[in-house]
Amino acid sequence: MSDSEPRGLARGLTNYGDAGFSLYLRRSFAKSMGFSAEMLARPVVGIADSRSGFNNCHRHFPDLVEAVKRGVLSAGGLPLEFPTISLGEVFLSPTSMMFRNLMAMDVEEMIRAQPMDAVVLLGGCDKTVPAQLMGAASADRPAIQLVAGPMMPTSFEGERLGACTDCRRFWALYRAGRIDAAGIERIESNLATTAGTCAVMGTASTMAAIAEALGMSLPGTAAIPAVHADRLRAAEASGRRAVELAARPIRPSQIITEKSIENALRVLLAIGGSTNAIIHLAAIAGRVGAPFSLRRLNELSDSTPVLVDLKPTGQYYMSDLYAAGGLGAVLRELAPLLHLDCLTVAGETLGERLAREQGAWVDRTVVRTLAEPLAKEGGLVALFGSLAPNGAILKRSAADPGLFEREGRAVVFSSLEDLAARVDDPSLDVAPDDFLVLQNAGPRSGYAMPEAGYLPIPQKLARAGVKDMVRISDARMSGTAYGTIVLHVSPEAAVGGPLALVRTGDRIRLSVRERRLDLLVGDDELARRRSAWRPPAMPPARGYAKLYMTHVLQAEEGCDFDFLRRA
Ligand code: FES
Repeated sequence: MSDSEPRGLARGLTNYGDAGFSLYLRRSFAKSMGFSAEMLARPVVGIADSRSGFNNCHRHFPDLVEAVKRGVLSAGGLPLEFPTISLGEVFLSPTSMMFRNLMAMDVEEMIRAQPMDAVVLLGGCDKTVPAQLMGAASADRPAIQLVAGPMMPTSFEGERLGACTDCRRFWALYRAGRIDAAGIERIESNLATTAGTCAVMGTASTMAAIAEALGMSLPGTAAIPAVHADRLRAAEASGRRAVELAARPIRPSQIITEKSIENALRVLLAIGGSTNAIIHLAAIAGRVGAPFSLRRLNELSDSTPVLVDLKPTGQYYMSDLYAAGGLGAVLRELAPLLHLDCLTVAGETLGERLAREQGAWVDRTVVRTLAEPLAKEGGLVALFGSLAPNGAILKRSAADPGLFEREGRAVVFSSLEDLAARVDDPSLDVAPDDFLVLQNAGPRSGYAMPEAGYLPIPQKLARAGVKDMVRISDARMSGTAYGTIVLHVSPEAAVGGPLALVRTGDRIRLSVRERRLDLLVGDDELARRRSAWRPPAMPPARGYAKLYMTHVLQAEEGCDFDFLRRA
């Protein structure tokens, strides 16, 4: 933003061929909303509101918007909220992932097209925060991310329940016949009982932590529960700070850099965060032209301990992390591993922030020290090999180490329909040591990479007490899920990656120690299968689906659209 650029309502005038007329017309229409000339002369702070009746996680946004407005007004700005697409995780078909880029485009274009000097981004549910960060990075106007905050867990029949690790735990018990229909119905009413995002370290909480680690949210705000009064105070503070940013701009491109992306990856590893965040960070990095590599992820993973004891890998909930000291406690522990010179949206460097917070109280049952971590290595690793030449991801902190070094027989499902039709068939030829393989669930599969990588344990094995198996796919997995699950295999099956060539009975070797995933089939046989391979049949696409299918990139490039990355 240059000093000569018009500010406030004078910014980016509608083109009628007469700039004076355009501004006069804009002011007169703005006055129809009852604003005085004094108010209209103020710096404008946009509030990107992703509330929707189809998004339970954002149901408290009207209160947050009011608090942001209060902050903007008290600092001398003019707050103007505007709606954007909202992505309620469980309300979208085929999957919210398909629409993340659409929301990112909406956010980017509305920030750029409307006259605002800074923007506060209100998001929370899984894909909304990455979409807002991607859009804001590309628009490159001063922006502050304000997240929804997590739900509170619910006390229920002697234990605490929280979406959505417990959703899966109880569903697995129901599938195994250990809870009856009435029981699962009672659980259903008690898993998600407040406003806010999933209560564990799922994708939403991970992306909230990443937004703060990148420096795009105000310090200390990532973990505040949605219903806590501090969340409203964070909203007010974000509005106030946005007015300061309008006067002295710090742009997203100054905050989101190669170094801050590395900081975010360190935090992702230390919190045992969601596998989805790797895709989102790759996409965010691509928007600012910062390098991003899964091999670098492995280097960082080898030197970043897991410090936070939260579900799905640990015991506690996000509200416990807030009470234990919040993300600041994690960042202070990680400080020797972080780039402390990274600038934050608060106007200070990360190092200055952490120095200011030295000595703050920390509950060590929830946030461990570097010297006594929960695990010495990070929660996520990338695997490479003949089955995944461009990489695959395993959340080792949520997996069974007893399954890490082994060879198994592939039991292949060629599509999601095939999986649904056969996985619970009592005659399915499957044993606990087999590797379940799902094909054609990647970005270009027509399903838009759903969170289907958490393949159910075949019912006959589940009933026999089998809790985990090696599962391999080009799909994603919910951040709240757990198991020995290899995801994001790239290139995906639908574009002819080696995953498409696997047949039931093939041997596959997994070695987490060596970071390898190999298909043990001879080259001649693979060449024969490749020449017979045809892409899956898909219905003709139109509109956004066509744009998506034409331009979506593979997982290691963040599943962004090729034309949205910075060249
Ligand atoms: Fe919105 Fe989990 S459903 S964060």
